[in-house]
Amino acid sequence: MNEHLKFLVSRNSAPKLTSPGPDADELAQMMSAALRAPDHARLRPWRFLTVSGERREALGELLLQALLARNPDADESAQTKARNAPLRAPVVVVVICKLSEHPKVPHIEQRQSAACAAHGLLLGAEALGYSGIWRTGDVAFDRPFMTSLGLAADEEITGFVYLGTRDGKPKPLPEMNPEEFNQYW
Ligand SMILES: Cc1cc2nc3c(=O)[nH]c(=O)nc-3n(C[C@H](O)[C@H](O)[C@H](O)COP(=O)(O)O)c2cc1C
Repeated sequence: MNEHLKFLVSRNSAPKLTSPGPDADELAQMMSAALRAPDHARLRPWRFLTVSGERREALGELLLQALLARNPDADESAQTKARNAPLRAPVVVVVICKLSEHPKVPHIEQRQSAACAAHGLLLGAEALGYSGIWRTGDVAFDRPFMTSLGLAADEEITGFVYLGTRDGKPKPLPEMNPEEFNQYW
């Protein structure tokens, strides 16, 4: 297997992330990889919101408010989990899919492009020696939360990509045989 392929097959999400996180220049490099996502008609159906430093606490407040709006009876531990979620990594990038109307590019294709962009971001992070994990949860589908974050009505959350330095050992990668996933038709 060549070096490029070895890199691709060793991508490994990191649930625990710590400092340092990528700086602005490194984030821009990672985003350059994201921007090479396959993109029908070059609609660029994505944008990113980068949340780092103290702004993560402000994001945590929005997550808490969104939780309480969805579930006013949320217990203390759920509230703490929501408020502290963005603190699990030095940088959180909200990958946003911006949907537009196009005669040849249905919304599903635009969502797929944005998902590829999120993957590109993770690969870009690993290429620079960082780690990441893509997370969603109920809040990613919560329209009032999206509005509070500044998303327009035609925008959706593709995912929260947490980025930083892996804390702990990488998990063992599952053995997967490509032949089990492919048939020559
Ligand atoms: C759309 C999407 C949403 C995800 N949401 C979560 C999540 O909310 N929480 C979580 O722990 N993992 C989530 N994952 C899975 C992780 O990003 C990761 O893929 C998983 O931990 C397996 O690790 P690996 O990517 O190294 O195989 C999500 C993945 C995708 C593609």
